Amino acid sequence: MDRVMNMEGAPLSRRYYGGQAGRKIGVTADGYDWLLKYPAATRRLAGSVPSYTTAPLSEYLGSHIYSALGVPVHDTRLAVRDGRIVCACRDFVADGERLVEFAQLMNYMDEDDLPSSSPGTAHGRRIVYLADARAALYRVPDLSGTQGVVERFWDMFVTDAFIRNIDRDNTDWGLIDHGREHAFTLAPVYDNGNSLNDKKTAAAIGRALDDPDRIRQDALGVRSCYHDDRGRPIAPFEYMRSGDDDCVQALDRFMQRWDPDHLDDILAAIPERAYGLSVMDERQREYHRRVLHARYEQALTPIWQDTSTHATPFDMTAPWNAIPSEDAHGMNR
Ligand SMILES: Nc1ncnc2c1ncn2[C@@H]1O[C@H](COP(=O)(O)OP(=O)(O)OP(=O)(O)O)[C@@H](O)[C@H]1O
Ligand SMILES: [Mg+2]
Repeated sequence: MDRVMNMEGAPLSRRYYGGQAGRKIGVTADGYDWLLKYPAATRRLAGSVPSYTTAPLSEYLGSHIYSALGVPVHDTRLAVRDGRIVCACRDFVADGERLVEFAQLMNYMDEDDLPSSSPGTAHGRRIVYLADARAALYRVPDLSGTQGVVERFWDMFVTDAFIRNIDRDNTDWGLIDHGREHAFTLAPVYDNGNSLNDKKTAAAIGRALDDPDRIRQDALGVRSCYHDDRGRPIAPFEYMRSGDDDCVQALDRFMQRWDPDHLDDILAAIPERAYGLSVMDERQREYHRRVLHARYEQALTPIWQDTSTHATPFDMTAPWNAIPSEDAHGMNR
């Protein structure tokens, strides 16, 4: 069972964090700096939502799914602070280093070189066009010059679809600047808070558990944070069939590395209660179990069977971002 850290008395670290999804504080504990992410109040949201999101639990679960896949991801623990369950994210930016977000890197692009012609906004946030992001991967010098960037982009595209992370905008991934003398490196994956239906009420979870059709709808009804050229959100499970080779290869990596038993282990390690607070009740646990298994079996597996191109299995001990050699391609069956 994972220990829920007691962060009640942890001193502030003097680090402050951006983002829009709720309160965040920086503390020091066990010799490290931690970002504590609180559940966000939902009073400004329309529709039937709980008064607070379960984003800390989603951040923890989503990050542990990335970790089970072998993708570098920030180290997350469940913790208690101010009488709330929060997600403690170990700060991966060391003194003297700097996180450079993809949004900042993308501003290097001349607007005339961006494939999309119409910068726009949706719900007050800037629309991210997939075509623009793709172009930036190859045309921004420090992105194209950093190992593993293209693979990471598509690994996140696939894994975010699996965990239903609908919110990975251009500030939610990036590079680490280690100082002028050193090459940039990819930052670990961070910000998985708005995934796994973190705004679903207990009543809606109850209805879904009583109705396999609702589980199926939740499993398949995933949209990407990226938009197509006409400004519509991309449906990732459709896109995976579009023949985009980078995307197909990322799905291949995912399918060869994901073991559905991982999920049951991750869920089993989360305590039901800690410090007198509810962490995850049995219905939430069962809901995530059913939806994620359904997404794996009913969405990702059939797409992979139809699109897979690798003749030889990946070396499971190789680093995640290893680029398969040319001759590893070919028909799988
Ligand atoms: N583990 C970490 N270590 C260091 N910095 C981090 C870490 N996780 C997040 N950050 C920084 O804090 C910022 C805010 O965190 P995060 O993106 O998780 O918040 P958010 O409110 O969920 O964001 P959004 O508005 O995108 O939903 C990030 O953009 C990043 O700069
Ligand atoms: Mg963010």
